[in-house]
Amino acid sequence: MAAGATRSQQIIERCLTLSRFSEEPGRTTRTFLSAPMRDVHRCLRDWMERIGMQVELDAAGNLRGLYPGLEPEAPHLLIGSHVDTVPGAGAFDGVLGVVIAIALVEALQGRRLRCGIEVAAFSEEEGVRFGVPFLGSRALIGTLDSALLARCDQNGRAVVDAIRDFGLDPDYLPSAILKGDLRGYLEFHIEQGPVLDNLDLPLGLVEAIAGQSRLELRFDGHANHAGTTPMPMRKDALAGAAEWISLVEQEALAAPGLVATVGKIEVLPGAGNVIPGEVRASLDVRHANDDSRRSAVERLVNAAQEIAARRNLTIDYSTRLDQSAVACDLDLVAQLERGVVAAGYPVHRMVSGAGHDAMILAQRMPMAMLFLRSPGGISHHPDESVLPDDVEAALQTGLSFLENLT
Ligand code: HGY
Ligand code: MN
Ligand code: MN
Repeated sequence: MAAGATRSQQIIERCLTLSRFSEEPGRTTRTFLSAPMRDVHRCLRDWMERIGMQVELDAAGNLRGLYPGLEPEAPHLLIGSHVDTVPGAGAFDGVLGVVIAIALVEALQGRRLRCGIEVAAFSEEEGVRFGVPFLGSRALIGTLDSALLARCDQNGRAVVDAIRDFGLDPDYLPSAILKGDLRGYLEFHIEQGPVLDNLDLPLGLVEAIAGQSRLELRFDGHANHAGTTPMPMRKDALAGAAEWISLVEQEALAAPGLVATVGKIEVLPGAGNVIPGEVRASLDVRHANDDSRRSAVERLVNAAQEIAARRNLTIDYSTRLDQSAVACDLDLVAQLERGVVAAGYPVHRMVSGAGHDAMILAQRMPMAMLFLRSPGGISHHPDESVLPDDVEAALQTGLSFLENLT
């Protein structure tokens, strides 16, 4: 640690260092097993091996460090998050959870706890490259199946190709599955929303993670000349998609607790003097209640079909993700709450609107999450930040949790 730097400043510095490893100049973009991931792995490996952790890269590109406990047969604790990012990301989404996990082991200063600690830096959570999230953490619970391995990116490279391109062997994916007894999974993460900032609170205890649906819709019309085609004769795929996109926003504004986003749109052929013949649009729908979310998706798909029929367009869609809402483990959350109190910080329980790898690990073990305030509620943006005092609050909470974990 640099002389005089506090441990929270070192954590923030490490996140900023990792944010500079990017596929693109001038902004942070790091997708599944892209080249800059190697730089991230090099730094994380160095930081972990320096404090006596055994580090390995599994066949799904997850970097994993083990800090054995006093009792080898005691169920170990997994602490982690993801190190991929959205395009133009901030420096803390995902990465902060891994760097805090390493800092917790560092803070033990060689002291062993009863149970071992495994730190996991998941290779892919955002779903940017292949349109499906959680590829890394799925490998730990054995659900990175052949259908997912066959999914292709927009260059026609499949997940399994990307694994090989990175120098890994997909035949070893079974060995990436978590072994032995797990006491549970803990994830530190920025809130990515305005709740804690508005309440002026440093930490949030997550009670549940909202479910999410991710779809891709395709509107097909007929490309034609923008100057010679009379308006009534057009089959304008973008005009149809635009009508639907504003309806998506109206639907979400009218439905309590629902958020719906069209974040990505591709227009073909994509020339200013050609009537758009094809539009591909993403749809991201979230709600704490799965029935509310699924019925909203149904309403929005029906609306797209009605708009298409009226405009003489055709519509097709595929569901990329239907991830149910996940409740955190009551006992683990209670123990984490005791850590917050013991560290002297106020307790605030909340639901996560963002999805996390914790949703995947929760299928196999007890799970808990601790949020750190997102100043300005900003995330998935270069202005994403954390406060050093909040990082220290999370560290103190984590240490108290670890010391008293039963
Ligand atoms: O999109 C999400 O909920 C998360 O940031 N991957
Ligand atoms: Mn994210
Ligand atoms: Mn994240």
